[in-house]
Amino acid sequence: MKFFVDTADTSEIADLAATGLVDGVTTNPSLVMKSGRPMREVIGEICALVEGPVSAEVTAVDYDAMVKEGRYLAEIAENVCVKVPLTMPGLKTCKTLSKAGIKVNVTLCFSAAQAILAAKAGATFVSPFVGRLDDIGEDGMRLIADIVTIYDQYDHFRTEVLVASVRHPMHVVAAAQLGADVVTLPPDVMRKLAQHPLTDKGLAAFLADWQKTGQSILPS
Ligand code: G3P
Repeated sequence: MKFFVDTADTSEIADLAATGLVDGVTTNPSLVMKSGRPMREVIGEICALVEGPVSAEVTAVDYDAMVKEGRYLAEIAENVCVKVPLTMPGLKTCKTLSKAGIKVNVTLCFSAAQAILAAKAGATFVSPFVGRLDDIGEDGMRLIADIVTIYDQYDHFRTEVLVASVRHPMHVVAAAQLGADVVTLPPDVMRKLAQHPLTDKGLAAFLADWQKTGQSILPS
């Protein structure tokens, strides 16, 4: 399973990328707004921080302008993945850009029917938003199960399931159990994956006992 970091905060990305556990980054217009920085500048910096795909989203809503914006974003760096919304103009844009060899992440996916269209449009990734479905009392992980099952039926579907709108570690565990290809994680959720009180307690006990030996591993 690939881990992407879901933020445009370059200091957070640098910190987590240093662990060696980060396979890419996703951004969206809201995350770029939160960064307070120009899109081209922040995407260019992120692309230099990680080797993997960096999703940068178009903001036009019509096909011609989406294609223009997508080609512009793709020129920023070779690891840019252009994000388009799951609308008919977005799918048409996905088809055009993917045929031109540009990676595309089709975002704002909330149904299996939409995910089928994303795969038919040649998307590199489809981003189903599990947290936003949970927020309205629907079952976000049920959507992931449906998409994985459908995609597994067709060898020619090459689109990877990129689980987005992740709210907590159990979304990650459930996505892994279902065989999703990628999860994109807010930085705090990524850090929570490693945290467990019994790990902290056990480590403290090991170190306290080690202290009693008066030894050190490295020769003085
Ligand atoms: O990449 C999509 C993600 O940023 C959406 O998350 O928390 O706004 O639903 P959220």
